[in-house]
Amino acid sequence: MYALIDISYIIFDVILCHPFFIFHQPFLSDNIGKLCGAAQGLYIMNIPFHVPYIDDSDIEAAVGAIKSGWTTMGPQTIEFEDSFSHYIGMPYAVAVSSCTAALHLALKVCGIGPGDEVIVPANTFVATAEVVLYCNARPVFADIDRDTHCISVDAIYRLLSPKTRAIIPVHFAGHPCAMDAILDIAHEYNLYVIEDAAHALPSWYKGKRVGTIGHIGCFSFYATKTLSTGEGGMLVTHNEEWASRARRLRLHGMNRDAWKRYDRGGSWQYDIEETGYKYNMTDIAAAMGLMQLEKVEQLCKKREAIARMYNEAFAVSDALIPYTVQEGISAWHLYPLKLKLEALSITRDEFIVKLEERGIKTSVHFIPLYRFSCFAHEYGNEAMFPDTEWVFAREISLPIYPSMTEKQVNYVIENVCAIAQEYKR
Ligand SMILES: Cc1ncc(COP(=O)(O)O)c(C=O)c1O
Repeated sequence: MYALIDISYIIFDVILCHPFFIFHQPFLSDNIGKLCGAAQGLYIMNIPFHVPYIDDSDIEAAVGAIKSGWTTMGPQTIEFEDSFSHYIGMPYAVAVSSCTAALHLALKVCGIGPGDEVIVPANTFVATAEVVLYCNARPVFADIDRDTHCISVDAIYRLLSPKTRAIIPVHFAGHPCAMDAILDIAHEYNLYVIEDAAHALPSWYKGKRVGTIGHIGCFSFYATKTLSTGEGGMLVTHNEEWASRARRLRLHGMNRDAWKRYDRGGSWQYDIEETGYKYNMTDIAAAMGLMQLEKVEQLCKKREAIARMYNEAFAVSDALIPYTVQEGISAWHLYPLKLKLEALSITRDEFIVKLEERGIKTSVHFIPLYRFSCFAHEYGNEAMFPDTEWVFAREISLPIYPSMTEKQVNYVIENVCAIAQEYKR
C-alpha cells in the first residue's frame, strides 16, 4: 500500500506536474464533465475531509489577545459581537462558547420548559435535539426533504400538537429551509422559530440573511465551520430583552461580567440574578472571529466554485445525484453528494471505502437521530422517516474547503466518477 502511494506520488509529481499537464489545467477545468467515465485513478493523493482556513492574520490576532493579558470574555468579544451584529444585520448578537450553547440559551429565553414540544429535523447534528432535553422539554423529530435535506414542511404540519412551542429548522449544508412556510405555521400556531444556522454563514433566503428570519438565529464557529474560532457560537435576535437575558445566562446568571468589574470604573460587586451557565466566549476566540469575519464572503466564493465544479461533473453521471442549489444562496459548508443506488452494485458504505482507498476522506451528514441508542424507540424508528432514511442510505459528504486546489477537486471528481462507472449495474 505504502509502496503504491510512493510510486503514485512519483507518477503524480513527474507526470501530472509536467508542463504539458499544467498547461492543460484550464482544459481540465473546462471539461470536468468529460472527466467522468474517463478517469483511471492511476495515482493517489491524500485529500482530508476538512482543512481549516487559518492564516497569519488569525494567528496574530489570537496571539495579540493572549499578549494583551486579557484572555477571557472582554473587549475583543464585545467588538466581535458588534461586528457580527452589523454584518448579519441584527441589532443584538451574543457571543457564546458554541452553537449548542446558543441554541440552549435561545430555548431558555423563549421560556421552553417541561411539557413543551419542539419540532426538529430527524437529520441533524445531535446538538439540535439535545438542547431541547436540556430544558426538560421533548424534541419531536420531523422527516426531511429529499432534495435539500432540510426539514419537511408537510412533516411539521403532521407533528403539531397542543404542546408544540417551537420549531428549530436546520439550514442543512448552508441551504436555506422553506422559511416562508415555516413562518406561516409559526404565526398560525403561535410558535417560536429558532434557526439552527450552524452551517449557514453566509447564506441567503429571498434577500434576507439566513439566521435573521426567525425569532432567534444560532451560528457555530466550531473547527470545521465556515467561520472558525476553534469552538464558539453566536446568538442573534431583534429582541433586546432576550439578548440581555442570554448575556446573563451565558455567565452564571451574573449581572456584571469580569470585564465590567475590572475595567476602569468597574466594581468588584455582582449579583447572581438566576442560575446560569458557563457559556461565555473567550477573547482569544473572539480575536480570531474578528479576522475570520472579514474573509467569510471571499472564502464562501471559493467553496461555491468547488460546488459548481462538483455539480457540473456529477450531473452527467446517471449513478450520481448532485446537490444543486440556486447560485448565491448557500454557504456551502458541506457538499452532500447522493448515490443513485438503483444504478449501482455497491452500497453507500462500500462507496466510501473505495474513496478512502483512493486517499479521499469523506463523511456522512447525518446519522439520523432516531438511530442513536439514546433516542431509539422513544423518539421513532426507521419506518417513520422514509425520506430521512432514503437520504441517509445515499449521502456522502465530499471535501469542500477554501484551500482545496483545482487539482484536488478534479482528483475527487475523477475518482467519484470512476467508482460510479466501475460499479454501475
Ligand atoms: C446542524 C448543527 N447544529 C448545531 C451544531 C453544534 O455546533 P457547536 O459544535 O458549535 O456546538 C452543529 C455542529 O456541527 C451542527 O452541525
